[in-house]
Amino acid sequence: MGVLANEVELVTELCERLKREKEKTKSKTASLKILDIGCGTGKLAVYLSEETGCAVTGIDPVRANVEKARMKTSSVTFEVQSAEELTFATNTFDFAVSLKALHEIQNPREALREARRVLKEGGKIFIVDWVGGVVQTSSHAHAKKYFSSERIKEALSEAGFVNLSIKPNKEGELMLCEGGR
Ligand SMILES: C[S@@+](CC[C@H](N)C(=O)[O-])C[C@H]1O[C@@H](n2cnc3c(N)ncnc32)[C@H](O)[C@@H]1O
Repeated sequence: MGVLANEVELVTELCERLKREKEKTKSKTASLKILDIGCGTGKLAVYLSEETGCAVTGIDPVRANVEKARMKTSSVTFEVQSAEELTFATNTFDFAVSLKALHEIQNPREALREARRVLKEGGKIFIVDWVGGVVQTSSHAHAKKYFSSERIKEALSEAGFVNLSIKPNKEGELMLCEGGR
């Protein structure tokens, strides 16, 4: 799968939810579109492309990450973009996903508004990130910027997402947040 041991549980769950959503639309084709926000070197984007057969686009502002990601596959589109200023048209994607990136985004609330803008009506967002207040060790450089489950719910709601749910992993350190457009 290529993801870290502590990511397997929630990334697997995220992928299962995407597959169920895809089933619901009865779309067995590659036409459903996923946006991976803060894709880094592309491991989640590549995994979801292989597992779901959806058309995946990954964005990250760091050119070196995008270049490394592009080396992995030509089946996924990778672009240098910031989450707060996406160049995609409104109503482009069926799903937005993000793995351990929201806390690194300078203006996460703007990023969530942008994610909602580029999602189609009925689209969904799935975010996996560290849980603030649980993970506060010195080895976590961005720990002060982690969201608690209450704060991320509030931010998602403020951005206009509905039907919110949060599921922590077994250790309670990471959470999978889901919201509807
Ligand atoms: C911890 S890494 C996670 C990368 C990848 N999702 C993964 O799990 O391997 C956080 C990523 O967020 C990206 N990032 C930082 N600021 C961002 C922004 N404004 N918009 C989108 N991504 C951003 C970083 O460049 C980095 O690749």
